[in-house]
Amino acid sequence: MEKPISLFVVTFLFFLLNQSRAIVGKYNVLELGAKADGNTDSTESLLSAWAAACGSSKPSTILVPKGRFLVKRVQFSGPCKNKAINFRIQGTLVAPSGHEALGNAGYWLHFQNVDGVTIHGGILDARGAGLWACKAAGNGCSSGGATVCKIDQIVLHRLTLVASLPTANCFLGSSLVVTKQKQRNSLDLLDLFRYTKLFFVFFYFFFEPWGNAVVSEILRTHLILGLNLTLDLNSRDSPGARCMAYSFDLVCRLGTKTLGFTNSNNIAITRLTSLNSQMYHLVFIGCNQVKLQKIKVLAAGNSPNTDGIHVQFSSGVSILSSRISTGDDCVSIGPGTTNLWIENVFCGPGHGISIGSLAKDFEEEGVQNVTVKRVKFRNTQNGARIKSWGRPSKGFVKDVLFQHVTMINVQNPIVIDQNYCPSHINCPGQVSGVKINDVTYRDVHGTSATEVAVKFDCSEKYPCSGIRLEDVKLTYQNQKAKSSCANAAGTALGLLEPASCL
Ligand SMILES: *[C@@H]1O[C@H](CO)[C@@H](O)[C@H](O)[C@H]1NC(C)=O
Ligand SMILES: *[C@@H]1O[C@H](CO)[C@@H](O)[C@H](O)[C@H]1NC(C)=O
Repeated sequence: MEKPISLFVVTFLFFLLNQSRAIVGKYNVLELGAKADGNTDSTESLLSAWAAACGSSKPSTILVPKGRFLVKRVQFSGPCKNKAINFRIQGTLVAPSGHEALGNAGYWLHFQNVDGVTIHGGILDARGAGLWACKAAGNGCSSGGATVCKIDQIVLHRLTLVASLPTANCFLGSSLVVTKQKQRNSLDLLDLFRYTKLFFVFFYFFFEPWGNAVVSEILRTHLILGLNLTLDLNSRDSPGARCMAYSFDLVCRLGTKTLGFTNSNNIAITRLTSLNSQMYHLVFIGCNQVKLQKIKVLAAGNSPNTDGIHVQFSSGVSILSSRISTGDDCVSIGPGTTNLWIENVFCGPGHGISIGSLAKDFEEEGVQNVTVKRVKFRNTQNGARIKSWGRPSKGFVKDVLFQHVTMINVQNPIVIDQNYCPSHINCPGQVSGVKINDVTYRDVHGTSATEVAVKFDCSEKYPCSGIRLEDVKLTYQNQKAKSSCANAAGTALGLLEPASCL
């Protein structure tokens, strides 16, 4: 009788083994060809792990073991056949060196239309310092704010001669403008070229084509590019006239965000570190129910546009027990954010926790129900900030609470700025249409690095209302700090230093 029993046991064990395989699909990138040497391109293995996990009807785990894995731009697209895909990252994903390698917009790692994705552990090293340096040098990279790219910051890239035409054809069917002009212009080229990089330029030559370097230099120094193609044919003599068509990429490098989730739900990320992003580190747009816990963001205090976590058009996002040290906002909260919860977060260096900037557009969604609790700012430009540009907008901010906040050497601990214009160039200069109501600051204490510790600069047309200050104690170099109010109304309760100006 013994044999049948052991046979039964073996069969049962097999059954169990198969069951456990059936419960979770496991995809180890090493087994799919990735190399943990930091040099071999492991993008394909990560993509095939994703394809398998996303295509499986069972919960799946993608394992990235210890070591450094070189990964190029990756798009993880859903919808998937299951709602439980878990990335376990024990090692580091490293971006290719050279800031051009990640492209010029969008994300290094991008999840789109996914539901139920979790990421546990790991380091994302975007190696952004090269791009920051390029921005600082103004050499083909847009400096400062992300929206203006000056003409002398444009690099003509991959200039290729695509056709040589009889002069008359230059005017046929052309839809781009290239006018030959002497002066340089600081045209806002980014808006013009945001969606495409490839342009055809019809260029008039008297002689045989010049080398790329010469053409490039002429375009750079003598041309203003606009949307309408006209050619300067004022030259009297034109022996051997030719019209040359060139194609080139206009590159005004803004940089790439590290990790993005778009139109995705039920996302959980724990113990993830994002290092030296070219631009924003973690971005959530159009997402519902996102839980971020024990996140670390690290980038230089002077790195441009390296916001730690950006949330926009999203609801039910929580950011818990995290440390953010970066060159721009630690958390930036864009239009259409509702039910956001931030608790136990350290910020510094950085530009604080910021709602806005709003009033970028007239048709803009509001921000509602934001809770920021138990946060600490150290050596930051701002603490609790709300900012909007001075222009008409349908946007609004309401039901915001900042509670149990510690400020250490913060330049603007409490600030509402409705005349936001950081570069002081081309400021809209109008009255902000953003309506700000019901913002509470409760138990905020510490030190301000400037005399004005509390500043409410609200819209003339839509004054801030329902601003509540409760137990706010901020000092400035052991002196009394000041508060400043314009178009702000509300109530003040408890111990207040500086005295309220509401
Ligand atoms: C482009 O140029 C043509 C000819 O000069 C002009 O009629 C047309 O209105 C221009 N289009 C735009 C959008 O400026
Ligand atoms: C506000 O958001 C929190 C989550 O951050 C949520 O629990 C709460 O129900 C929301 N309140 C309202 C009135 O929607």
